[in-house]
Amino acid sequence: MDYDTPLFFHVMQYAAAADRDVIDMVSGGPDWEPPEALRDGLREYADADADAFQYPPSDGLRELREEIAARRGVDVDRVVITNGAGEANYLAMAAALERDAGDEILLTDPVYPYYPGKARMLGADPRLVPVADDGGLDVAAMREAASPDTAAILVNSPNNPTGAVYDADTMGAIVDLAEANDALLISDEVYDHYDFSGRFESALAVDSDHTVVTNSFSKSMAITGFRVGYAVFPPHLVEAARTRHMLVNVTGARPSQVAVLRALRETGPGYYEASRDLLRKRVDAFTDALDAAGAEYIVPDGAFYVFARFEGFPGTLENVERLVDEAGVACMPGDTFGTYDEWVRFALVTPRAEEAARRLADYEF
Ligand SMILES: Cc1ncc(COP(=O)(O)O)c(C=O)c1O
Repeated sequence: MDYDTPLFFHVMQYAAAADRDVIDMVSGGPDWEPPEALRDGLREYADADADAFQYPPSDGLRELREEIAARRGVDVDRVVITNGAGEANYLAMAAALERDAGDEILLTDPVYPYYPGKARMLGADPRLVPVADDGGLDVAAMREAASPDTAAILVNSPNNPTGAVYDADTMGAIVDLAEANDALLISDEVYDHYDFSGRFESALAVDSDHTVVTNSFSKSMAITGFRVGYAVFPPHLVEAARTRHMLVNVTGARPSQVAVLRALRETGPGYYEASRDLLRKRVDAFTDALDAAGAEYIVPDGAFYVFARFEGFPGTLENVERLVDEAGVACMPGDTFGTYDEWVRFALVTPRAEEAARRLADYEF
């Protein structure tokens, strides 16, 4: 096995076992409420007939696929419901590799750590391409790295961990690059509802048969435990993805899909706007306190993380554990995200984010 177990659960367990009060900013599970219609859907489901407790169609409930297809402006046959964006990314990478058009998957550095692990698990060579100083995609560096061996280019906007948001020009350029190298562009848009900049562009805005868009409701509806995501494949790749999904999972969970469908239909834009507002305020308060602590950080334009570094305090696992024990704040070590071993990542998914920032400001780094 040449793929590592991601460190998230290790750090969370370390924080939970600590002998003091710790503010957990390790992983990206939102602390705010899901849409009310989601709870209504679940309540109603409990009293449904027994046949509603059986397998849904393997590629997902038809009505949910139709609802997603209508919102994304794509043919319903291109939509596969998955167990979160995690599975959608796995199916997309597998689809890219099955084309026998190369073994390499280009990723950004820093990177969401599940990507390189997943790529290696599928027998691919992940290659990290540094981002620009502001965390944005360095298209020229990607262009330089791309070759006939590139099976896929995987991007994530709004980005985990940098908070970068890719605009229409960037998305257009990266789709062009994928096409020019006969690679698949995989665009993970799981934080699309958390764009503070107004510049986010989906890869679906560019018509291409070299693009797979992955997404989920984990973050947008604050339901990481429900496991409902989806991928939009180009028509010629969807059948193989459906089969792989069926062989691995049989299907997804029906109650989750029913509740998500109801929430999609009945939830207005106000719900999403309120979550964005909450996060905007948290980002401002947290980064103000980081300023007071003398930290350097990338100002996030979206998602819900802050990637930061403290002078003379590299973001090693050892230092992260010291922060837990001595400051009462738990975050993720930077080298989990690529070559950024000076950095740490804070997930702003706790109402105590501001208090955590004050603790950091008081801590002697
Ligand atoms: C960039 C990115 N993609 C995918 C996922 C996984 O999402 P899901 O819960 O839908 O599997 C995460 C979770 O943190 C993420 O940050």
